[in-house]
Amino acid sequence: MTDHSQSVYGGVSRANHWIGALLFAGVLSVGFYLAYSGIEGPDRRSLMGMHRATGTVLLLFALWRVIWRLRQGFPSPLDGVPAWQVIFARITHWGLIACMLAMPLSGVFMMSLLGGRGIDIYGLFTIPPILEIEGIRPIGRQVHGIVAFTFVGLIGLHILGALKHLLIDRDGTVQRMLAGGRR
Ligand code: HEM
Ligand code: HEM
Repeated sequence: MTDHSQSVYGGVSRANHWIGALLFAGVLSVGFYLAYSGIEGPDRRSLMGMHRATGTVLLLFALWRVIWRLRQGFPSPLDGVPAWQVIFARITHWGLIACMLAMPLSGVFMMSLLGGRGIDIYGLFTIPPILEIEGIRPIGRQVHGIVAFTFVGLIGLHILGALKHLLIDRDGTVQRMLAGGRR
């Protein structure tokens, strides 16, 4: 699979994007549900187990995503997109990538492995704690929450930008993330 063109997203990038969008939106939703729904008891424990395990797996996915984007660079913007929009989009894209890393990193390390807690991966195996740093878990909880809201804000901006390209500019930006678009 080639992904070296300057102006299109190749198959790997498109698969990364849409699988990632679905999984991160899913884990974000479950996180907010856990934090604000008041769910208790065994239901909470099993949903929390899923959240922790899936979030941990997404750390690997996010690392892969960063490596891929650093190796490939971003495709150049389509002709006619003003410079300020290109810069704004670039900042948003890196912000989204940073959130994809910071969410699981704060969960895995600050709330778990450095806070004296292991992580059970779907009952298959448990990642043992590394050490117990006094007071790191509440800090992790705060970081996790702040990054979560930042992430949602960036996703909102990102979707508004996509809608603008789709409905107002009608310039093929969304199409190139859907089908590779025109060269
Ligand atoms: C893609 C990765 C992840 C995403 C998108 C995510 C998202 C969220 C969100 C949105 C919340 C609610 C935040 C709030 O407003 O307070 C949350 C809470 C939480 N997350 Fe994550 N999370 C991820 C990974 C993890 C991991 C890897 C762990 C632990 C191993 C974890 C453990 C927790 C815990 C313990 C809570 C607190 C729930 C509560 O207060 O009831 N998360 N997460
Ligand atoms: C309905 C939801 C979404 C739509 C319509 C959408 C659309 C797009 C489009 C059209 C691009 C290409 C922009 C360009 O050509 O310059 C793009 C790039 C990108 N999107 Fe989304 N997106 C969505 C959700 C998400 C979510 C939830 C995330 C984060 C988890 C995300 C992360 C990214 C990133 C990081 C890029 C930069 C390219 C890359 O490295 O993959 N997107 N998106």
